[in-house]
Amino acid sequence: MAQYIMKGGNPLVGEVSISGAKNAALGILAASVMADEDVLIENLPDVQDINMMLDAIREIGADVMRLDTHTVRINGKGIRELSVESENMTRIRASYYLIGALLGKYGRADVPMPGGCEIGQRPIDQHLKGFRALGAEVEIVNGRIRVESKKLRGEHIFFDVVSVGATINVMMAAALSEGRTILENAAKEPHIVDVANFLNSMGANIKGAGTDVIRIVGVPRFHAATYSIIPDQIEAGTFMFAAAITRGDIMVKNLIPKHMEAISAKLIEMGCEVLEFDDAIRVVGTPRLRPVNVKTLPYPGFPTDMQPQVGTAMALARGVSVLTESIFESRYRYLRELSAMGACSKVEGNTAIITGVEKFTGAEIHACDLRAGAALVLAGLAAEGITTISDIHFIQRGYEHFEEKLRALGAVIELANNERDLRKFMMVAG
Ligand code: UD1
Repeated sequence: MAQYIMKGGNPLVGEVSISGAKNAALGILAASVMADEDVLIENLPDVQDINMMLDAIREIGADVMRLDTHTVRINGKGIRELSVESENMTRIRASYYLIGALLGKYGRADVPMPGGCEIGQRPIDQHLKGFRALGAEVEIVNGRIRVESKKLRGEHIFFDVVSVGATINVMMAAALSEGRTILENAAKEPHIVDVANFLNSMGANIKGAGTDVIRIVGVPRFHAATYSIIPDQIEAGTFMFAAAITRGDIMVKNLIPKHMEAISAKLIEMGCEVLEFDDAIRVVGTPRLRPVNVKTLPYPGFPTDMQPQVGTAMALARGVSVLTESIFESRYRYLRELSAMGACSKVEGNTAIITGVEKFTGAEIHACDLRAGAALVLAGLAAEGITTISDIHFIQRGYEHFEEKLRALGAVIELANNERDLRKFMMVAG
């Protein structure tokens, strides 16, 4: 099984360019099958989750042509199969977007229950509530979600919880329904705006995405479009925290500074210098971070997908930080891994109390999920000595060429596929 092996201690210094947003791309790829004409999608991130989604839409009959690593042309005209069988779809969270897309276009879908990182219960009741409100019958049988409707009609829907997935999913189905839909208590994350903009580029009539009320007037069909995906807010935030954790100096390029405000504010509070440019942010680390308190919240609050990265930085701060996770209930497993590197923390309910230490030391640890895995790599790069991280398939699901981007910043890190690779690394770097 592949591992990362790294020798820590080098401050990461230099420039890094951010790829397209994985979570926006997943919604956009699912939505692209709703058109019967060519849809060209640019700035696609080259990560596993995206490849799995492309395979799934190819398997149901969409024409998928990868023009280059970051560009794909999709045409949903050939879709004959509304039952998604791809085994990969049980592994990723965003498989549920095919329900909204197929229900909106064909009035029917049959999709396996979604997978994704094990960071909490992750119910989908709000998605189903929205589909039912639009007039669909919904049943869950043998681990599959089946939805069917003779005619979808616009509705006034009030979400009980702020959910990124439910907002995108119901928005997609409503975009091809009859009449007006109003989504209240909608999520406001940047990728919701991106999916809405993409749907509008295919002819949808969606207003208000990015606020908590989204208004949709259904249209009968979509047409051809060309669309470029926004930069990944979480990948950008991860590299910004890489500068803080390794006491480095990183120019993070190709991002949207507005999307980074909660993250920039915390880095400044921790003592880093944060310089903002039109489409870049430079973060200059500090010899010792200051402790802070963070509570994860829906956008524009501090993102839950940045919680392990800020938790790792807190573990190196001078003093006690309080971290509260308010979105998912099982997102602290990385703290156990960090403790093997010398970190000191205590979890009580959804709160972690983290007492900073002066340094981490290398250890053999494993990536518990996608974002935790990335944070642990940053910890390993800050640690004294050698760290190995197993289960890196989690990280490869969502970070494009992670180790290569880190190496370009001066990190001593290799992908090791076997014992021989590990020994070779030790001989050269150990
Ligand atoms: C998406 C992101 C994930 C990110 C999360 C929050 C994708 C593929 N994944 O996940 O990386 O961490 O947003 O920003 O885009 N909930 C319900 N019922 C529902 C749906 C959600 O109770 O029907 C709850 C969840 O358990 C959670 C909260 O609402 O407590 C937010 O979840 P949601 O925003 O839906 O997350 P995902 O869309 O799964």
